[in-house]
Order: sequence, then structure tokens, then C-alpha cells
Amino acid sequence: MTQLERIGVSLDKDLLSRFDKLISEQGYQSRSEAIRDLVRRQLSEQRLEDPKAKGVAAVFLVYDHHSTKLTKSLIELQHSHMTSSTIQVISSLHVHLDEHDCMEIIVLRGRVSEINHVAEHILSMKGVKLGRLNIVAM
Ligand code: NI
Repeated sequence: MTQLERIGVSLDKDLLSRFDKLISEQGYQSRSEAIRDLVRRQLSEQRLEDPKAKGVAAVFLVYDHHSTKLTKSLIELQHSHMTSSTIQVISSLHVHLDEHDCMEIIVLRGRVSEINHVAEHILSMKGVKLGRLNIVAM
């Protein structure tokens, strides 16, 4: 089990009451848990700036499946990254939204720089209507 260390934090009353209100709205049971998550998030965001850091990401995109060239490119891209040592496509989810549009979520794991590169490539493909990269450094 991880060893815990207690720390004391001084905050002015107003800041603390705003913090308490925020974390209660978010559903936190304790200040400690909320502060731990803030610290983790900050450290993870800092690691994102290191191109060699390892990360996991979800590339979310909406596209018209009638653009068959895009569908083919997406499949080829995912297969070509199955065995790479710096980045892997772990999984993908496809949802048929309506008669035209599909949503796809492609899950990537690997070097942050590679993830950014592949995601930019995917999101700039012709036919992608909307897209977004969500990435966290591990
Ligand atoms: Ni579809």
C-alpha cells in the first residue's frame, strides 16, 4: 500500500469556501480526494509537454460514411499502427448516428508526440466533419 503523508494547507476563508462549494457540486466526499485529483491532473498536464512521455488518448470524430475514401483510410491507418513500438491503436468504437453520419472513437496508446501526430492526421482527413483529441499522460 502507498504510504500517506499528511500536509497542512493554509487558504483564505473565501477561497476555501469557493473550493468546498465546487468540490461538493462535483461530488467529492472529501477535500483530500479533491486535492489529490488536482495534483494528479496538474502533473499529468505537465508531462504532456514532454514529447517522450507515454499517454493514452481517444480521438473522437464524426464523418459521413458515404466518403468511402475516408472510411478506407481510417481502417488502413488503424491496421498500420497495430504493431508500431511507439504508438498502438488499442481499440475503436463505431456508432451509426443516422443515415449519413457515423461517430468513431479511436483509442491510442504510446508516445505523446506520436499520438498528437496521428490524431492531427486523422482529424485533418477529408470528410471528417467534427473531431477532437482527448489525451492524458500516464
Ligand atoms: Ni456507421
